[in-house]
Amino acid sequence: MSSLKPIGVFDSGVGGLSVLRHIHRLLPTESLLYVADAAWCPYGPRPVEEIQARSRQITQWLLGQGAKAVVVACNTATAAAVATLRGEFDLPIVGMEPAVKPAAQATHNGVVGVLATAGTLASTRYAALLAQFAGQLHVVSRPSPELVALVEAGELDSSRARQVVAHCLEPLLAAGADTIILGCTHFPPLRPLVEAIAGPAVAVIDTGHAVARQLQRRLGAAALLAPAEGVATVRLLVTGDPLPYQRAVAAVWGAALPAPEPLSL
Ligand code: DGL
Repeated sequence: MSSLKPIGVFDSGVGGLSVLRHIHRLLPTESLLYVADAAWCPYGPRPVEEIQARSRQITQWLLGQGAKAVVVACNTATAAAVATLRGEFDLPIVGMEPAVKPAAQATHNGVVGVLATAGTLASTRYAALLAQFAGQLHVVSRPSPELVALVEAGELDSSRARQVVAHCLEPLLAAGADTIILGCTHFPPLRPLVEAIAGPAVAVIDTGHAVARQLQRRLGAAALLAPAEGVATVRLLVTGDPLPYQRAVAAVWGAALPAPEPLSL
């Protein structure tokens, strides 16, 4: 497999761009092909089998574009489908999960809050993660589809966004959480609001950078890293209408990303 091929990255929408940014920063000479599956967003409430089928379809498409590795930049799709994908496709597949292990190391009072989708919180992978790392912790989880909707709309700092974020944080802060896990890739763009509402005594954690590091390790081990002098391209494909989507993309990523291209799957 050639090291000049792109890395495929997907999520239900713009959320995974929060991971793509870390990848782009850490591996600036890698070409990236990002699929925002806006037509199927949100994944959170969907049955596992549906997410598996859709993840398979997107991975197949990315492979058809010559992808040398795939990053499932979505906690929900990882929980539902990463094991299936790894069984079916012969290339490095990097997934992600809520940062329970780092939170267990960061907390001082043993109370950890988790914001994620209903799908992630109900998954067997999440249950296994808690069993492995959170035995001694009091974990308060809140499914937060409202936050996915805010970010898909590119609404990151309105007064409505502040109200919605405060509402989602309420049970976590009321329980005394000193550490909050952003367990959905849509949530890091809301980090400034989360931090402002939670206050300086609360640590806010996500796994975007860790995923980029893991990808770097996997590519290195498979001799798939792009040459240091390579010229990279970043392409963004959107299932559904890309035009209204530009606002959300710009809000999450900034202005430097090329306009989203339509993709029908
Ligand atoms: N961004 C996704 C995640 O990390 C899911 C959001 C959704 O589609 O519900 O879980």
